[in-house]
Amino acid sequence: MKTIPVGVTAATTAAAYIRERVGAAWQTPVAGIVLGSGLGGLADRLEDAVRIPFSHVPGFPQVTVAGHAGQLIVGTLASRPVVMLAGRFHMYEGHDAGLAAFPVRVLHALGAPVYVASNAAGGVRRTFEAGDLMLIADHMNLMFRNPLIGPTEQGDERFPDMSDPYDPQLRALMREAAQAVNVPLHEGVYCGLVGPTYETPAEVRMLEKLGADAVGMSTVPEVIMARAIGMRAVAVSCITNKAAGLSHEKLSHAEVMEAGRSVAGRFEGLISAFVQRL
Ligand code: HPA
Repeated sequence: MKTIPVGVTAATTAAAYIRERVGAAWQTPVAGIVLGSGLGGLADRLEDAVRIPFSHVPGFPQVTVAGHAGQLIVGTLASRPVVMLAGRFHMYEGHDAGLAAFPVRVLHALGAPVYVASNAAGGVRRTFEAGDLMLIADHMNLMFRNPLIGPTEQGDERFPDMSDPYDPQLRALMREAAQAVNVPLHEGVYCGLVGPTYETPAEVRMLEKLGADAVGMSTVPEVIMARAIGMRAVAVSCITNKAAGLSHEKLSHAEVMEAGRSVAGRFEGLISAFVQRL
């Protein structure tokens, strides 16, 4: 594991750099939005966009996953100022949970009160099909890592309450947005595993018994961080495939990316309608 500083000081430095790059056009964002695999197209909908490669942001490591562009984009969506991250840092890349959650600290340091996560996920609920969207109601942390392990940073909660990790009001707003743009939106429990292997069929049966509806390799450390620093979180999974053993298909990253792209139009409409309601 690499030891890159991921605390409040590092986040403040990154945020100062981003504000300076945007210059006079800077407006405090209503939300920070992370785009999952295959969902990066939403970034093209931003108006007055300033694009900053991750490699320019102080404290950000290189993105190593194909299909994650690795850009931070500042602009307006539905006339609301937002900051988007096209790409994220996964633990399976060798990052610890603190680094996986670091961009959330940066979004907070930029003044975003709301954290919107999106991800590609396998459908554990048997009725889920590739292309379905699922609002995350709750999660299970089967990554067995936590970004808050270690000394408490100034302003962080030591023992954050996790009884409502995904903000009920924001979830209601997301459902309302889905209705407004006529996008079917399921709701369920996301289970985070560290990856990078997809699950075995036996593991998927275990996850089903535990109460998971979808499985993926991200989001959990980020939402833990959001709660610890007082941001309200909401998240949407794009079901890119039936989880292993639930169909005869073998899983591949290429298929996950392709399914992400096929749902992109609905996803983009949903998030735009949500942001409009913030
Ligand atoms: N499992 C874990 N992560 C995923 C999957 C999956 O089936 N599909 C997309 N991300």
